This record gives sequence, structure tokens and C-alpha cells, in this order.
Amino acid sequence: MSQGIRAQVVAVGTCLPERRLTNQELEGLVDTTDAWIQSRTGIRERRIIEPGTPLSALATPAARQCLERAGVAANTLDGIIVATISGDHIMPTTANIVQHQLGAKRAWAYDLANACNGFVAALSTATAFIESGRAQRILVIGGDIMSSLVNYSDRNTCILFGDGAGAVLVEAGPATGFGVLGFEMHSDGSGGGDLSIPSSGSAEPSTPERLAAKRDKVQQNGKVIFQHAIRRMAEVCASLLETLKLTANDVDLLVPHQANRRILEPIAERLGIPLERVVINIDLVGNTTAATIPLALDDAFTQGRLQPGSRVLLAAFGGGLTWGACYLTWGRS
Ligand code: ACO
Repeated sequence: MSQGIRAQVVAVGTCLPERRLTNQELEGLVDTTDAWIQSRTGIRERRIIEPGTPLSALATPAARQCLERAGVAANTLDGIIVATISGDHIMPTTANIVQHQLGAKRAWAYDLANACNGFVAALSTATAFIESGRAQRILVIGGDIMSSLVNYSDRNTCILFGDGAGAVLVEAGPATGFGVLGFEMHSDGSGGGDLSIPSSGSAEPSTPERLAAKRDKVQQNGKVIFQHAIRRMAEVCASLLETLKLTANDVDLLVPHQANRRILEPIAERLGIPLERVVINIDLVGNTTAATIPLALDDAFTQGRLQPGSRVLLAAFGGGLTWGACYLTWGRS
């Protein structure tokens, strides 16, 4: 960290599609039941956008709400990072589109793809810019239109995912003030095949056969991912707290990537954090990939659980495999 600067996370904003896709509706699409989905995942419904709607249609309103709550004009931003695996296009990137829509004329902008760990990765990147003195204000957006990447005839995956976007504003503040105290990030590319979208890039160009086989949609080894997600998120949180010489008592809110309620509860248990200090909103929005953490932060904020000075531990795990954690005190000081 540069002397005298700490990256502060000062505001959050979100945007969700209006349309709710309930478990009862999924019963009509695949061989499943509301009871199975609720008991195995904790999900009751998720939000789904009209097919063909770009991610920027969610990302830009989320960014506007965040900036408004922060009392900050878009033309004072130095940078915009959009974490996503389902951007408007490969080129131009969604961040560039959002930059234009916001009128953030001074800001550089780029996308960052790191699946369900995209938001934590983007936040760590923004923090590094700010702590090095190379930027004062960066908007970090996490968003995904997972409905565009899900096969609605595969009951193993289609029940899990939803669409949404959330944004946080990261600002330079005094080193003694609130803000980001630490990060820990990991990858293990050997597990990439356990959660992938095979036909989504140069390795497997799209062909009619591949499209017919749904190789352009999420494929996963659910059991393997389930076990990794619990172990890796619990490990990285424990390790980060140890590095910072902190304990579970120093965590007011654990805000984990919302993958499955049955993943979140054992993580909290392993860390010794009671469930009332864990933010869980998967029942209403499902797994929105890069958007889960800002959506959960927003819920905590609107419920009054996230206040200036709240000590927050973020944790995420996703396809790659990739996982990470961040510890911060919320707000401006
Ligand atoms: N409805 C009814 N039955 C189902 C459904 C469904 N939607 N999906 C699977 N089943 C069946 C299976 O076919 C299996 O039947 P079988 O025993 O006859 O073969 C049975 O239910 C049990 O399947 P399991 O895979 O053991 O179910 P499990 O309890 O592991 O739950 C789940 C499956 C929900 C996918 C779980 O493994 C999971 O959450 N994994 C993590 C996946 C994840 O979160 N991926 C998102 C991206 S990564 C991330 O965000 C961390």
C-alpha cells in the first residue's frame, strides 16, 4: 500500500430485472420440484431478463444508483471495471458502453472475466490502482445475464442461476480511515473442466453441432464444485483473517458469493460466524455469478445492516477454478 492512501468502498447500487422465474415455473420446463430446489439450494425464485437484453441495461442503472447514493458525478470517475462473463459483446466491452451511457468522459473502462469470483477480482484491481495513487475514483460493477448462458433443459444448472448487476464506488481515502484492509486471491486451472462453457471462445468456435449440443451453455460437475466451494471459501477467509491478525469476532458481516444456501451455511460454521451475521439473499435472486456480492451488499445496506464502519468479509469461488476474499470496513471516512 502507498503511504497515506486506503481504498474505501463508499456506496453500492443495483439493478434487477422485473421478471421473476419461480421454482413452480421451472417445474414446467424440467423434471424438478419446488421442494427439491428449495431443500437442495435454498432458492425460491430468480430474476430473468427478456432474451436479447444487453448486460449494460442492468449495469448502467446499477452504476447510476451507486453514484447517486455516493453523491458523485460520473465525470469525476477515473475508471470503470465491469466483472462479467456475459457482457453485451466481446467487443466493445460492456465497461466501455457503460462509460458512454454514464457520460464518464474521463474514465478508462474495461471488462474483467473471472466468473463467480469476478467481483472480488475487480475490487482487488481497483484497490491496487487507488492504493498506488494512480486513480482516485473507480466504479466496480459485477453483473451477469446468466439466462443467456444457461440450458433450460438441464435441471442440474438451470435451477441455480439468475440475472442482475450491482456496482460499488471505490475512492481514495486516508490510510487511517475506513476501507480495504486486505485481499487474498487464488486460482487452480487444473479444475477448469468442472465448471465451464466449452464453446465460448477460440478453443471451440461455434458450429451448428455444438450449438445443438448446448456446448455454448454452462456445464458443471455439481458435486465437485459444491465441495470445492465450501472448502476454498472457508480456507481463504480463515487465511485472510489470520494474515490480518483478526478473528471471526472482527467480522460484522460475512458477504459470500451466493452459490447455494447449503454451501453458505457450512462456510459460516467453519469460520465460527453465526448465521445472523451472514448476508444470504439467494432465496430471491439465485446465483447471479459476478453480481452476487454487490446484490447482497445492497440488501444489507437497504436493511440497515451495512453501516459506515461495518467490518465486512467478502468471499467468492467460481469457474476457473478461482477464489478469493476481501476484508474491509464500509464507507467513507
Ligand atoms: N431437480 C430434481 N432432481 C435433481 C435436480 C433437480 N433440479 N438436479 C439434479 N437432480 C437429481 C440428480 O440427477 C440426482 O439424481 P440421481 O441420484 O438419480 O442421479 C439427485 O438429484 C441428487 O443429485 P446431486 O447432484 O447429489 O444433488 P446435490 O445435493 O449435490 O445438489 C447441486 C446438486 C444443487 C447442483 C449442488 O451440487 C450444487 O449446488 N453444486 C454447486 C454448483 C454451483 O453452485 N454452481 C454454480 C457456479 S459455481 C459457484 O457459484 C460456486
